[in-house]
Amino acid sequence: MPGFQRALARMFSSVAAPAVVMSFVAINGAHAADAGDVAEGMRLFMQKGNCQACHGWAGDGRKTDNQMPDGANLRETKLDRANFVMIVKCGLPGTSMPPFDRFAYSDGRCFGKKEADLKAQGIKLADPPATLQPREVELLADFAFAKIVGKGALDRAKCAEYWGGPTEVCNEFK
Ligand code: HEC
Repeated sequence: MPGFQRALARMFSSVAAPAVVMSFVAINGAHAADAGDVAEGMRLFMQKGNCQACHGWAGDGRKTDNQMPDGANLRETKLDRANFVMIVKCGLPGTSMPPFDRFAYSDGRCFGKKEADLKAQGIKLADPPATLQPREVELLADFAFAKIVGKGALDRAKCAEYWGGPTEVCNEFK
């Protein structure tokens, strides 16, 4: 079961989880990100959000920090944009994926749960390296869906394109 469903099943009875998942799936219209937004999203992925520490700079799950938990391979995620955004904001309670919305579990905006509810259920929340504004999460999604999600494993050419030109880190690829 993907982490998303597992986290929901932990918070709700497994019978209710599919219904909850459906209610969070927003309409996912075509969304063309502009290059500036993608570049800004990439910076957030590498720096402020430090997603790369757990998910790898390529988002392929090869984390850049050995001390960090193993993040999911985002190149292979089946999530659509709306659920991607929700997971970044709300995290996956009970796993090492932290919530990045500062108010995530303060007012029920995430799965209708507050911090006290999760505590009462014995479900732990990971601490985010930083909190992100809703707009920053959208930029991250612009970047992820332009450069990572569904893009397959990197080779040297794709790596160069990813970094906007040939880069030393690409030498490991054929
Ligand atoms: C401290 C480590 C850590 C950091 C930092 C982190 N993640 Fe995660 N993330 C995880 C782990 C671990 C999972 C998998 C949880 C599970 O399924 O058990 C995950 C899962 C996800 C998923 C769900 C993937 C799927 O297919 O179910 C998304 C999307 C995601 N992370 C995006 C991000 C983004 C974007 C950032 C940066 C803003 C980020 N993560 C930062 C550890 C991290």
